[in-house]
Amino acid sequence: MRFEHKDLLGIKQLSREEIELILDTAVPMKDIINRDIKKVPALRGKAMVTVFYENSTRTRTSFEIAGKYLSADTVNLAVSTSSVQKGESLRDTIKTIEVMGFDLMVIRHAMSGAPHYIARNTNMRVINAGDGTNEHPTQALLDMFSIREKKGTLEGLKIAIVGDVLHSRVARSNIYGLSHFGCEIRVAGPSTLMPPDIERLGVRSYYSLDQAIDGVDVINVLRVQKERQQKGLFPTLDEYANLYMISPDKLRRAKDDVMVLHPGPMNRGVEISSVLADSNMALVNQQVTNGVAVRMALLFLMMGGSRDEITY
Ligand code: NCD
Repeated sequence: MRFEHKDLLGIKQLSREEIELILDTAVPMKDIINRDIKKVPALRGKAMVTVFYENSTRTRTSFEIAGKYLSADTVNLAVSTSSVQKGESLRDTIKTIEVMGFDLMVIRHAMSGAPHYIARNTNMRVINAGDGTNEHPTQALLDMFSIREKKGTLEGLKIAIVGDVLHSRVARSNIYGLSHFGCEIRVAGPSTLMPPDIERLGVRSYYSLDQAIDGVDVINVLRVQKERQQKGLFPTLDEYANLYMISPDKLRRAKDDVMVLHPGPMNRGVEISSVLADSNMALVNQQVTNGVAVRMALLFLMMGGSRDEITY
């Protein structure tokens, strides 16, 4: 099976089989990361560029190293020191990059839909690395990979997504992905941070954290997106933490072997307690490693060949 899309703009566009293809391909990729010599020639002669109009530590770096482990030439456009600051339009910036011969662009933008616009206007393949509050497909893929690795399956799990659902592209991409696997998906948070029509996505929404995490296998904790909020969505961060911070104490209602995910960057003491973040119940660091494997898989499927052609 091949990845048939030119671009990866959202999990919404993927079938269950396509998600499984990416996750299955990420398994041997993770072995490469764990080797002493972390390089295979799979994408030699291919070129990719990351263009991040919003800040990033994990996503941008992991795309870059994923490309390098596969021998692709990888360039990062530093938007803050580029001609974007002289007023160059998005379209002109993209065209300029395209004519240098890049095969694939990884783009993050504050505006929902920006990667879709770019994809329509370029021959390069495009991967959405987060567009506004819309989608963050590779984060959902690495979350699903991390859950599957730990629990053995995604099938039928009870999963709570907790926090700033309104502004979270991570939540939306996770919901689209997990819906293919018969999971019971619950979302929880203050009413001001809950999209009114969220249940249309097939999830149940809760304002009570205790009810939401009752008997769950997985809790995915969202970062409070201070930069996307107008003032006044909740009284204070302390108040938010009192009601919604996930701590070891709160986890007593969940399954004994509950796993806690957080996409990073964490606001310790706001949405997740520091003790929990540093405990082995939280998979924050494993998620980052898995992010490299999943992005290697995706780059390989999009720029390389089929899974059988991987050179070990
Ligand atoms: C997420 C993002 O940028 O959407 N971070 C990430 O990619 N690891 C989540 C967030 O910033 O809250």
